[in-house]
Amino acid sequence: MADIALERVTFAFGSSRAAQLPVLQDVSLQVERGEFVVLLGPSGCGKSTILNLMAGFETPQQGRILSQDRLVTGPSPSRGMVFQQPLLYPWLSVFDNVTFGPRMQGLPEADWRPRATELLQQMGLQRHHDANPWELSGGMKQRVALARAWIMRPEVLLMDEPFGALDAQTRSLMQELLLETWRRLRTTVVFVTHDVDEAILLGTRIVVMSARPGRIREQINVPVAAGPRDVEVLASDPVCRNIKAHALHLVREEARRHLAVQ
Ligand SMILES: Nc1ncnc2c1ncn2[C@@H]1O[C@H](COP(=O)(O)OP(=O)(O)O)[C@@H](O)[C@H]1O
Ligand SMILES: [Mg+2]
Repeated sequence: MADIALERVTFAFGSSRAAQLPVLQDVSLQVERGEFVVLLGPSGCGKSTILNLMAGFETPQQGRILSQDRLVTGPSPSRGMVFQQPLLYPWLSVFDNVTFGPRMQGLPEADWRPRATELLQQMGLQRHHDANPWELSGGMKQRVALARAWIMRPEVLLMDEPFGALDAQTRSLMQELLLETWRRLRTTVVFVTHDVDEAILLGTRIVVMSARPGRIREQINVPVAAGPRDVEVLASDPVCRNIKAHALHLVREEARRHLAVQ
């Protein structure tokens, strides 16, 4: 039983047939418990659309989306989403942003307070407990967004280029933090990026998408996924170097195709 699955999904934007923009065509994808699946593809190929379908924000014209064998018909706290822009509530403190979900669900404080404290500590935010969002750097804001998603104990965490707006240094720290937390909590993750290095660093499986209308072009397992993985290990490992060259080739080819169909 997959934690999240797309079954022969076809999706287009636009209501009238003539004005339709086909985005996904017959896409099937199964994500198993504890996997870290990276969707890799050129801009505009439908990566965000796949996440939005998985989240239940959009409905496919054909095919279906299943979450542990249940049909996805709308958003659910069991499928958490982290966007490129952290979208924090500006009028709430860091702590109140992180605990917003469980408080809205009316869960008892004894349930969420210890988890919030632990997550804030893991994210290096304990000193910023009472800070306002506008006082935080981009990386800190994104850590608050991660803690806010994780406190819900989601079955699946959907991440849409979450580090795309960060500077290279912060981005690399955030990638490490995400990997550490994922290793500890083993949440199933579907992560979108157009960056091949990021895909290989994070993913246990890389799903390369074709240009619009998006299809799955190829799936690549990353064999070092379970072991220690950092930029240096990946750069020196010949298997990873081959995967990188191959993935780069595929993405460049699809990016050129995307330019041609635009
Ligand atoms: N709300 C929308 N209405 C119409 N077209 C859209 C909408 N959102 C995205 N698109 C188009 O659908 C295609 C896929 O978009 P998206 O899933 O955001 O791609 P990606 O995340 O891979 O860059 C693009 O051509 C984009 O312009
Ligand atoms: Mg996108």
